[in-house]
Amino acid sequence: MTDAARITATISRLGHQGDGVADGPLFAPRTLPGEVVSGIAVGSRLTSIRIETPSEHRVQPPCRHYKSCGGCQLQHASDGFVAQWKTDVVRNALTAQGLETEFRPVHTSPSQSRRRATLAVRRTKKGAMAGFHGQASDVITEIPDCRLLDPALMAAIPVAESLALAGASRKTPLSVTVTASDAGLDMFVQNGKPLDGPLRIVLAQLAEKHRIARLTWDDELIAMEQPPVQPFGPALVCPPPGAFLQATKDGEAALLAAVLEITRGAKRIVDLFAGCGTFALPLAQAAEVHAVEGERDMVAALDAGWRKAKGLKKVTTEARDLFRNPLLPEDLNPFGAAFDAAVIDPPRAGAEAQVAQLAKARTPVIAYVSCNPVSFARDAKTLAAAGYDLGWVQVVDQFRWSAHIEAVARFTLKD
Ligand SMILES: C[S@@+](CC[C@H](N)C(=O)[O-])C[C@H]1O[C@@H](n2cnc3c(N)ncnc32)[C@H](O)[C@@H]1O
Repeated sequence: MTDAARITATISRLGHQGDGVADGPLFAPRTLPGEVVSGIAVGSRLTSIRIETPSEHRVQPPCRHYKSCGGCQLQHASDGFVAQWKTDVVRNALTAQGLETEFRPVHTSPSQSRRRATLAVRRTKKGAMAGFHGQASDVITEIPDCRLLDPALMAAIPVAESLALAGASRKTPLSVTVTASDAGLDMFVQNGKPLDGPLRIVLAQLAEKHRIARLTWDDELIAMEQPPVQPFGPALVCPPPGAFLQATKDGEAALLAAVLEITRGAKRIVDLFAGCGTFALPLAQAAEVHAVEGERDMVAALDAGWRKAKGLKKVTTEARDLFRNPLLPEDLNPFGAAFDAAVIDPPRAGAEAQVAQLAKARTPVIAYVSCNPVSFARDAKTLAAAGYDLGWVQVVDQFRWSAHIEAVARFTLKD
């Protein structure tokens, strides 16, 4: 392609994936608002991008892998810019629903704090390689100097490579979800060769050699030297393999601090989309908690953690699909024992059905933790229409250098 094919464009905003957007729309990855860029348009995507006039917010990416690795999207922007952009995305989503509120300063997790990641690992002619996929590509980039991952996860890279040597086919890369736990690495492998007797023996030997706390191959437990427990308040929970956990311990602590502040003084709390008990178990130090979650294994893990812990108030659990079968006002206000606060932390789709029922039940205080500003704003509108005040929002940037946005908000029922 010659320079004659190049076009020039001015970036007006960032899209939801963090790409710069110019008129068209034309998407230009790794550009910033106000920048004049040139490149070759391929459909709605600008490629071979040159920055003609850089933004004042453009910085040298801290990681040497950034150019080829797709693990991060926003390392070329200053921390201040990213914090403001994430705040503005949430603010604009609320404005579109006719809502406004106070925003607390963004809490950003430090570099090298990601405690859970999925590595792509494949066999090569010479051995094996592990890393992240490149931007919109199948090519795997090795990441020996990654700025994102906790050092404990970095230690998993050579281990993941030895697992690929033993059990990856030549064609399909392994997907290895690694979680750091106090007991060691929790490794959950998918897309490997089917398990047979010899492979099982080799994998068990590797688990022992590398002191992997737990190794799971598809749905089969290969070895568990120690349960890979996570502390939630005074409880220790052993999550099911690959189960959801907040991305960083630092982010989890910031979200929990906000949730504790919002629900302070409540005697009975319902935790909706409770996972393995990230919020329910610490909350149970001061309140009785009913934890509801769709995945049975996670509910069982939460319950087992509570039963072994000392000093917690009563925690009841329920496996329930809260999209199809939300808790109703009669569940939320059982005779003589209504919940005086709710915590709700749904997946990206939000919690349309459950929020409508919370509003009907008039649960006085709601801590809403969200990973999607659009569904959050939609649900916030439902609560506002039912008489709730949106007191404040705090963005917690535990997905540093990515376009992903996490926030927590306080809703209280007006008198
Ligand atoms: C964002 S995670 C939050 C988990 C937990 N609050 C935490 O902080 O670890 C959302 C949770 O919702 C659960 N979930 C997804 N769809 C659900 C549904 N329809 N009904 C109930 N739970 C669901 C997932 O299994 C996951 O544990």
